[in-house]
Amino acid sequence: MTHDPSVLAPTFTRTAVRGVAPRNTMPDGEMDPSSAYQIVHDETMLDGNARLNLATFVATWMGDEADRLYAESFDKNMVDKDEYPRTAAIEENCWRILASLWNVPDVTDSIGTSTIGSSEACMLGGLAFKRRWQIARRAAGKSTEKPNLVMSSAVQVCWEKFCNYFEVEMRLVPITEEHPTLDGAQIEQYVDENTIGVVAIMGVTYTGMYEPVKEIAEALDALQEKTGLDVPIHVDGASGAMIAPFLQPAIEWDFRLERVHSISTSGHKYGLVYPGVGWVVWRTLDALPEELIFRVSYLGGDMPTLALNFSRPGAQVLLQYYQFLRLGHEGYTAIQQECQDVAKYLAKGISDIGAFELWNDGSDIPVFAWRLKAGYTDKWNLYHLSDRLRMKGWLVPAYPMPDNLNDLTVQRIVVRNGLSRDLGDELLEDIRVETAWLDALTSPMPVEGQKPGFHH
Ligand SMILES: Cc1ncc(COP(=O)(O)O)c(C=O)c1O
Repeated sequence: MTHDPSVLAPTFTRTAVRGVAPRNTMPDGEMDPSSAYQIVHDETMLDGNARLNLATFVATWMGDEADRLYAESFDKNMVDKDEYPRTAAIEENCWRILASLWNVPDVTDSIGTSTIGSSEACMLGGLAFKRRWQIARRAAGKSTEKPNLVMSSAVQVCWEKFCNYFEVEMRLVPITEEHPTLDGAQIEQYVDENTIGVVAIMGVTYTGMYEPVKEIAEALDALQEKTGLDVPIHVDGASGAMIAPFLQPAIEWDFRLERVHSISTSGHKYGLVYPGVGWVVWRTLDALPEELIFRVSYLGGDMPTLALNFSRPGAQVLLQYYQFLRLGHEGYTAIQQECQDVAKYLAKGISDIGAFELWNDGSDIPVFAWRLKAGYTDKWNLYHLSDRLRMKGWLVPAYPMPDNLNDLTVQRIVVRNGLSRDLGDELLEDIRVETAWLDALTSPMPVEGQKPGFHH
């Protein structure tokens, strides 16, 4: 790109800014920083507005002090434990706080780590299962050829990735209208001696519903009694592990259940931190095979680490600790409760419109989905409503449910910290207005080219 000697020139008359920025190859020359800034800044104006993105589970608001802390610490690499010993210590504080929140029997006998998100955390949980199973099978002189992992057909794509990347057969238990989540029914048809574990989800991505981890554990207890197979559970609590301890403390889904070996969550979802942080904790040191742990030098000593990535941001870990200090149990409860109140308010408002039937109402995590009432209209569908809302700036995805319900299209709202009742009310009004607009059509909307909105 041309070197522009005059940065005094009005921004949009500068040579650099007047060109089309290169898409495929690096420019030969330099550009003044304010022009480069303007170009990148302007291109991102075409992105949706993060606060109006009701498809994402990921935090989009933290507040001024957190933003300042972020700006002060974005240069820290989490892996440099020797160079940033306080950041390393804070990481450890965080997973121990989470282990306690999830009722670990003895926090000094547990182990955990931060990750880049739930996906990495889930993969580490899956890897621990696989290795543990391999060790036991080898010791018994049995084959380790065909590991499988049992889970609902409504798992998040990270589990598909895990099974694909780490060569584990994915055994999906289909959800149905009668069993809208994995609930332990018929689990014995899926589990065998090659099953490395079962995944239970606290806050299913498609709908926000909790899987009844206790019932799944009881089904596995019964199976063990019958067959001797001792199958551990990993709880994918990407969202729910940061909701249930505050809003539904009586639900037993965590380390209170002995069969739960590990739990993961996204710090960047209801942990209330900007994207890229996740967490995984194992109930005991034994649950994580030693061979998966690498030792790094730390303050002249040695520090166990386990992760798929090497370098990653340390700032998010500091932000997580900031939120723990800033909010405490009380603050987290207040925020999650407000999100749930707004979710229920929106769910009721949407159900009152008359065109829709709720799949759930946000009383597990503050997420709910709805479908168009059967036979309501032949003129439009939820994809059209999603498009209409997008024109107003709202991102509210429509998508098909997974097997065996993939004929069913739903639309979903994720209520996050920052979707106030006032803003929510604007959304509700827009849904009413757009539904009325669609209802007033005298001929059907075209359906060519419709595709599911991104909803993971
Ligand atoms: C249940 C569940 N598991 C895992 C993930 C992946 O989380 P992350 O985006 O933090 O990798 C998600 C994301 O929405 C999820 O909902």
